[in-house]
Parts: sequence; structure tokens; C-alpha cells
Amino acid sequence: MDIQQHFPVGIIGSGAMGSGIAQVAATAGHPVIIYDTNPAALEKCRGSLAATLQKLQEKGKLPDAQAVIGRLSFASDMNAFAACGLVIEAIVERLEVKKSVFTTLEQVVAPDCILASNTSSLSIASIASACTRADRVLGIHFFNPAPLMALVEVIPAVQTAPGLPDQVKQLMQQWGKAPVIAKDTPGFIVNRVARPFYGEALRIYEEGIADMATIDWAMTALAGFKMGPFTLMDYIGHDVNYVVTETVFQSFFCDPRYKPSFSQKRLLEAGWLGRKSGRGFYSYAEGSAMPEPVKDEAAGRAIWERILFMLINEAVDALQWQIASAEDIELAMTKGVNYPKGLLQWCNELGSGYVLAGLDSLYEVYHEDRYRASALLRRMGVAQKEFPL
Ligand SMILES: NC(=O)c1ccc[n+]([C@@H]2O[C@H](COP(=O)([O-])OP(=O)(O)OC[C@H]3O[C@@H](n4cnc5c(N)ncnc54)[C@H](O)[C@@H]3O)[C@@H](O)[C@H]2O)c1
Repeated sequence: MDIQQHFPVGIIGSGAMGSGIAQVAATAGHPVIIYDTNPAALEKCRGSLAATLQKLQEKGKLPDAQAVIGRLSFASDMNAFAACGLVIEAIVERLEVKKSVFTTLEQVVAPDCILASNTSSLSIASIASACTRADRVLGIHFFNPAPLMALVEVIPAVQTAPGLPDQVKQLMQQWGKAPVIAKDTPGFIVNRVARPFYGEALRIYEEGIADMATIDWAMTALAGFKMGPFTLMDYIGHDVNYVVTETVFQSFFCDPRYKPSFSQKRLLEAGWLGRKSGRGFYSYAEGSAMPEPVKDEAAGRAIWERILFMLINEAVDALQWQIASAEDIELAMTKGVNYPKGLLQWCNELGSGYVLAGLDSLYEVYHEDRYRASALLRRMGVAQKEFPL
């Protein structure tokens, strides 16, 4: 595959992610073939992509929508991928289904076609194991909505050919994305490092230290995040957010740092999925008012610092375990989940000794492994050192 060329790109799955990735690839100049087992989903994707591209042209954000639409084609079987240089899979998040798709896919594409999965939580090594030539398989993880979110995590499996991740990284840059390279470990970068944003907020709420509205207020008005944890969980949907937490927890051999919460599990069980079902942590029914926060700045600071210390600890731990470079961890959290600044930079600004002391005092109170400081944070904190960025 010559990445300078506009080779055809195949997309498997025409849902939220598949449609978005197809839009990105076609806008970048590639002919794109979209395949789905569900004809209704494929038709819906065709209609919504055409409408979206047309709207972008009307807003002056795309010079020629028709040219992009003309590069899109829709297929009801995978033989249409024969000439593709890259195929990205974005189907249901089930390992056995993905593996069977990859086995079939390998039989219809050229030997040098790159095969990628957009999985959020499955191991790339296990998906690649379904292929005879597993060295051309890797993860290319886009964020939702793919056309708007700049971050792309590129994830080599143990089987992936050594030069391939850099080649794909270059391609993603040509597509206008901000790619980072992440190790094939649960949650990659973003879905691992971001866990305490939800988990620690839930813990503070469950212990009765503060109510949801106050925690959301502290994280937005005081710490500068775009959305508070409860508003964000309701927005993502508990069927997605809770499942990611549980998967990360299970995949880390039940490390207590990632332990899911009963409050969120019960919402899922009740079908209170968040905004999309009209009720989650908050009610979105017509006429319902949002609860008011208690705007006490000192108490608010204690809340946001506690969540931030836990987030920084995750970022430092990811660095210690070489999940990604410091630069890529910073890029991932600012571009993938729009954090107001990189967590390592935030640690430098607060002082690594201060963050370490904060975590140690939580550990003192709870004596839970959840609050153990990363060995790297301890080393930096004791020496009062800054992360070189
Ligand atoms: N939604 C997100 O926020 C998000 C973000 C990043 C990554 N992901 C990952 O992207 C993938 C897709 O997620 P989504 O939200 O777009 O799902 P979705 O449910 O919106 O779409 C999945 C599509 O795949 C099709 N499909 C199912 N089985 C198939 C098969 N065997 N062959 C062909 N098509 C098949 C379905 O008909 C459906 O149209 C998952 O692996 C998910 O973990 C999702």
C-alpha cells in the first residue's frame, strides 16, 4: 500500500462510528466502500452521510459535497473490498463476531491490505489471531463523532509488523487527525486514563460528600472541564459508559482502581440510560429543572482536586507502564476527551509533591489499594520534579 495514493478504503459496519469514519476517509479523497449485514442500517447511513455532507457545503465547510458523496459506495457483501488498501471494522463490540468477520475478510482482500479494528475495549491481539497474516492487523480507534474528534489511537498488536503503526499514523495525519500510538492494553490511553473522572466522582457522591450537581459544578466552574462527570455520563449513556468501566475493570484483573459503581449499575438495570432515555442521574423530562449545586469554593476545591489527583495518577501510571509517550498521553486527553489541559502538565503546575501528598492522604483515610500512588509519581513527587514535556 502506498499511503500517498488515494487507495480504496473499506468500512465494515455502517453505524455511528462506521459512518463517521467513512465520511473522514472520503473527505480525505479515498473511494470508500461501506458494508453492513443490515440493509436498513446501510440505507440510513447513505441518507445521513449525504445530508451531512450537503449541510457542510451549505455552511461553507466543504467545497464540493457531491464529489465526496460520489466517492461513497455501499455493499451487501465483503467481496467489494477486493481492491482496498485498508479496511476498518466498526461493528458490534463482540470478540467472537469480530474474529469471524476478520477471518472472512482476509479471504477477500489483497495480501498487502491493512486490516484495522475500531474496537474500544477488546484486545487487538485476540482479533488479529483470527487472521493467517496477523502482521497486517492493528487497532485504529476513532472517537465519536469521528469527523469532529481529532484524536485517533493507533494500536499495534504483538503480531503487527513493526513499520505499520508509523505508516498508519502518517495516513491519519493526512486525514487531518491527531494520531497517537498506544499499547494494546485495556482502554488504550483515553478509556484507561479517564476512568477516575467518572469513578471518583461516583465515589464522592456515593459517600455523601457532595451531591451530583455540586460535583458537576466543581469540575466545570472551578476545574475548567467542559462537562461535569454526571452530565457527561448521562450524555454518553450508561449502557456505554458503565460497560466500558466494567470491561476495563475485568480486563485489569479486577484492579480496585477501576471498580464500577452500584449507583451507575442500577441506572443501567432500571433502563435509565441518560439523555437518550429521558432519565439518568438527572431527569430530562419536559419541564424538569436541574438541581442546584452548593457553591462553596473550598468544598468544591476539595472535590475537583480529589478527582484530578486520581486522573493525574492514571496518566503517570500509563507513562510508567509505557502505554504511550508523555506527549501522546497529553495529546490523547486534550484531543480525545477535551480536557482543559494535559494531566502531566497539570501535575507540573500543581507540583508533583503536592499531588503525591494528596493521594497519600486519601490512602491514609481509606487504606484501599485504589488510592495507591504510581511508583513514578512517588519518585517524581519525593524529588519535587517536573515531567519533561
Ligand atoms: N459509539 C462510540 O462512541 C464508539 C467510539 C469508539 C469506538 N467504538 C467502537 O466502534 C464499533 C462500532 O460502534 P458503533 O457505536 O458504531 O456501533 P453501532 O451499533 O452504531 O453500529 C454497528 C453496525 O455494525 C453492523 N454489524 C453488526 N454485525 C455486523 C457484521 N457481522 N458484519 C457487518 N456489519 C455488522 C450493525 O448492523 C450496525 O449497523 C464498536 O467496536 C465500538 O466499541 C464506538
